[in-house]
Amino acid sequence: MKILTVNINKGGPGKTTFAHNFAEYLAKKYRVLLMDFDDSANLTGRYTSDLAEENSITAIFDEKEVTPLTISPNLDLIGSDSGVERLKERQATKRRREYALGKWLAKNEDWLTQRYDYVIIDTENDEGILTINALIVSDVVIGIAEPSKDAAKALVALKRFVADLNDDFSAQARLYFIANRVNFSENASKDFLASLSERDDYLGYLPRRTVLGDDVAVINNPNTPKALLEQVETLFETIKTQLDKEAA
Ligand SMILES: Nc1ncnc2c1ncn2[C@@H]1O[C@H](COP(=O)(O)OP(=O)(O)O)[C@@H](O)[C@H]1O
Ligand SMILES: [Mg+2]
Repeated sequence: MKILTVNINKGGPGKTTFAHNFAEYLAKKYRVLLMDFDDSANLTGRYTSDLAEENSITAIFDEKEVTPLTISPNLDLIGSDSGVERLKERQATKRRREYALGKWLAKNEDWLTQRYDYVIIDTENDEGILTINALIVSDVVIGIAEPSKDAAKALVALKRFVADLNDDFSAQARLYFIANRVNFSENASKDFLASLSERDDYLGYLPRRTVLGDDVAVINNPNTPKALLEQVETLFETIKTQLDKEAA
């Protein structure tokens, strides 16, 4: 079972969009568990507006019975809701609070590994306790940047954060970056991609296209143009290959 977390300490570059689309892509062939570690619950909201506590990450952190919500034959979700904001506050006084997810994964390893090939975790734009829990169990972390000056800074900060966590918690998360909302008619996008392309941890980009902003994943969306579909599938296959390699 391979684990990938999406993070960057910046609002709106497309973390949720990527997590959702990549999970749906993998679910065409593999069994996938999606987890929503963001209290704004945008990812969960793409699937349901009525999440039971047993379907939510609260159950993991409060050590209660967890039942992933079945979305489709190959895709399950452990979601987030408004209660997660208080959940984060409750973690503040707990011992070994960084290890709650790792502990749950270890305790439930048998059925989890039987049931899932991939776990995809969406996070919020922070360096908070839930994000730390996700990062330190991950084989791969994907940082997402949209063409902007701040993005470069956020990428540097994420790189340092993941390196520090790997040190502090003997974790082995490998960080890669992708760009999102790229528009080649704008200089900002061209310059940004040129600066990213030199990095060996850069895996590729998603263009700015309305269909990528839809609630329906592009690979299931009849409105997705063929060329865009091919571009997305190529990037996702590259990311999957890296994930398979890091988790081996
Ligand atoms: N490549 C894209 N092209 C067009 N719209 C996009 C693209 N990626 C994301 N969006 C839209 O941008 C907004 C922010 O994306 P989201 O995935 O929620 O960001 P984050 O999770 O990083 O805060 C959403 O409305 C989403 O639909
Ligand atoms: Mg989000």
